[in-house]
Amino acid sequence: MEIEGFIHIVVELQNKLEDEDFELMTKVARNMWLSTNSVIYGEMFSHPTQIKPVIMRAAIFARELRLQKVKLEGDALCWSTNFPLTYIDLLPLLPLSAQSLCTERPLTFSSVSMAASNLMHAVQYDGYGGGSAGLKHVEVPVPTPKKDELLLKLEATSLNPIDWKVQKGIMRPLLPRKFPHIPGTDVAGEVVEVGPGVKSFKAGDKVLANLGIADGGGLAEFAVSKEKLTVARPAEVSAAEAAGLPIAGLTAHQALTQSAGIKLDGSGQQANILITAASGGVGLYAVQLAKLGNTHVTVTCGARNIELVKSLGADEVLDYKTPEGAALKSPSGRKYDFVIHGATGIPWSTFEPNLSEKGKVFDLTPSLSSMATFALKKITFSKKQLLPVFVNVKSENLDYLVKLVKEGKLKTLIDSKHSLSKAEDAWAKSIDGHATGKVIVEPF
Ligand SMILES: NC(=O)c1ccc[n+]([C@@H]2O[C@H](COP(=O)([O-])OP(=O)(O)OC[C@H]3O[C@@H](n4cnc5c(N)ncnc54)[C@H](OP(=O)(O)O)[C@@H]3O)[C@@H](O)[C@H]2O)c1
Repeated sequence: MEIEGFIHIVVELQNKLEDEDFELMTKVARNMWLSTNSVIYGEMFSHPTQIKPVIMRAAIFARELRLQKVKLEGDALCWSTNFPLTYIDLLPLLPLSAQSLCTERPLTFSSVSMAASNLMHAVQYDGYGGGSAGLKHVEVPVPTPKKDELLLKLEATSLNPIDWKVQKGIMRPLLPRKFPHIPGTDVAGEVVEVGPGVKSFKAGDKVLANLGIADGGGLAEFAVSKEKLTVARPAEVSAAEAAGLPIAGLTAHQALTQSAGIKLDGSGQQANILITAASGGVGLYAVQLAKLGNTHVTVTCGARNIELVKSLGADEVLDYKTPEGAALKSPSGRKYDFVIHGATGIPWSTFEPNLSEKGKVFDLTPSLSSMATFALKKITFSKKQLLPVFVNVKSENLDYLVKLVKEGKLKTLIDSKHSLSKAEDAWAKSIDGHATGKVIVEPF
């Protein structure tokens, strides 16, 4: 049996601790240090009068061993190191240490026990389909970071439609890679432990990350992120605001800057942009980012969100449930140079008359029919085009976005927050397709 992650070592001392006894305690610690290597959480219990000096001495000792992080938490001493740890490594060690202590010194240990408190609460599914009813609450081992990974204690996770679409089976059989699968890719949290190859982060850092759709892991108390998909979170940005950014923010950013070529410093030629589903996770970021550029922005959304999108800078708003909205006609008669298309089910024939001469539609939800249109427009050298967009997560862009949030130039609009224990409510809310902004899950 291999246990990864946190190991909780409880040493209960019954006898009065003298200095030499303390030396023996440190010997136990040294043995643990030499033959284990991971995050160790040590608690030493004794008579209340003895515990403080023992802990202080142990802290000094641990510093001498250059353990990564030493801190006192109440009566507990916590220290951490950096390498993989297996149960098999540790199991034979502790009883032996305990036995040798008992025989070498007249010190009685009532128990030297190791409790594997390395389990965490997570939400997973074990097959395709089932929606929110397919989610299961489980206790699973805290994951262990590999060389280039960080272990994060999660503070917020945001959902994206791709999370439940993968459960539905749209990427079958590629994704998820295996069952059971813990979904959720966009997270914010605190670094607890780093793999030996990690250079830019250390325990205690606040970060946000994209975990990757293949791995997921966000609906849990802990998750591992790749260093290259993790960025620092400034203190001014809350965990929920940060967790909203990765997929939704980066998709909006990529469609505007890379696909449409909009410069977000306001330079560049003026462009007329239409954003459909502007009240969604992607759309609300897209409206705000588009207005950082030299743009005129028309959007579609439901009537209840018209004032919200206007407050974020939209120049013209179409209620998608009205005939004008369904026709996508700009009230000022503008033709669109670019469409960031976050809605679904709108045929090319509706876009075509509203596009400028070289107008392009960037489709965020490519379907078979939109791919056929894309191919047809390509092979006929049409000036007006429909192009699929697939987000490519880049940490430099994520860093740019979180800095915009810090500076107050970009907001994460939060539809709702749900605790991990009610993750199925968040899941249902996202599937429903009527969220205004981001649906957030918090592990508390
Ligand atoms: N290609 C990629 O890499 C990529 C990346 C991210 C997202 N996506 C896709 O992009 C789409 C949008 O993502 P999201 O996260 O923004 O979704 P979302 O947050 O679930 O979008 C929900 C919002 O869409 C609005 N909406 C629904 N149908 C609409 C319509 N016909 N016209 C105008 N507004 C409409 C809803 O408004 P009401 O409540 O008023 O109906 C709601 O506020 C999804 O299909 C997603 O899978 C693709």
